[in-house]
Amino acid sequence: MCTRIGSYLAAAVLAVGAGSISIAANAETVALIGTGNVAAALGQRFAEHGHSVVYGSRSPTEADVRELVAATGHDAVAVAPADAAARADIVVLAVPWSAAEGVVRGLGDLRGKILVDPTNPRVTASDGFADYPIEDSNAERIARLAPGAQVVKAFNTLGFETMLDPKVANGPVTVPIVGDDRAAKARVAALAREIGLEAIDVGPLRHARILEGLHFLRANAEGGRINFHFPRDTSRE
Ligand SMILES: NC(=O)c1ccc[n+]([C@@H]2O[C@H](COP(=O)([O-])OP(=O)(O)OC[C@H]3O[C@@H](n4cnc5c(N)ncnc54)[C@H](OP(=O)(O)O)[C@@H]3O)[C@@H](O)[C@H]2O)c1
Repeated sequence: MCTRIGSYLAAAVLAVGAGSISIAANAETVALIGTGNVAAALGQRFAEHGHSVVYGSRSPTEADVRELVAATGHDAVAVAPADAAARADIVVLAVPWSAAEGVVRGLGDLRGKILVDPTNPRVTASDGFADYPIEDSNAERIARLAPGAQVVKAFNTLGFETMLDPKVANGPVTVPIVGDDRAAKARVAALAREIGLEAIDVGPLRHARILEGLHFLRANAEGGRINFHFPRDTSRE
């Protein structure tokens, strides 16, 4: 609850600082499933950039969700998760990793939609380090439950604070993206670039586990969390 309100305030400052609303070259309708840190950060930033934002919440009329909708502005709404997904072309699963499969089962027919998976499967081991709790990847599990949807793994390798304001990273931040449909990945990359991040298509969905693994480098890094910047290697060109 506190972090959600913190996100609103940070976004409000950003909006004032920006002073104007951007109009997206290709306006998308994006459903953010969930109303926590990641949904609030991406929802507010996408809305600022001219995209239609629909939050999918288990409690869309609760005060804190209404507060998020008001902070997002730009005609954003909150409805039940399946309604949100039905209205959108791009659906972002901003829910706890362990809830994601159940949430996808409840979203109805996702055929033809882009399903963005930012989740990070993790448990905390007895030595205090974050650990991988599954053998495959959450993105592939999600894809198996959503036939006909284009699942794209993205936005799992950076914090929601950086999604809200990339300047807090003190340098460029790359969003690596995997998925099996180039056009879907390009649309997600465009959203990332609009909000001030770099984005790079790094391959097929079967490599989602590699992206999910980056979370452990980020979370377990000595001295505190790290961000990733992947400049292109031109030395062999
Ligand atoms: N926090 C980060 O910086 C960060 C960065 C990158 C990726 N991620 C990943 O992004 C996902 C979302 O992270 P977050 O920090 O936004 O999480 P969060 O603040 O806990 O929010 C998760 C949201 O999911 C919804 N939800 C749906 N089913 C749920 C269930 N069974 N239990 C709890 N919540 C449920 C809730 O919205 P309603 O109550 O409105 O339904 C809730 O607000 C996670 O998988 C995380 O690994 C997080």
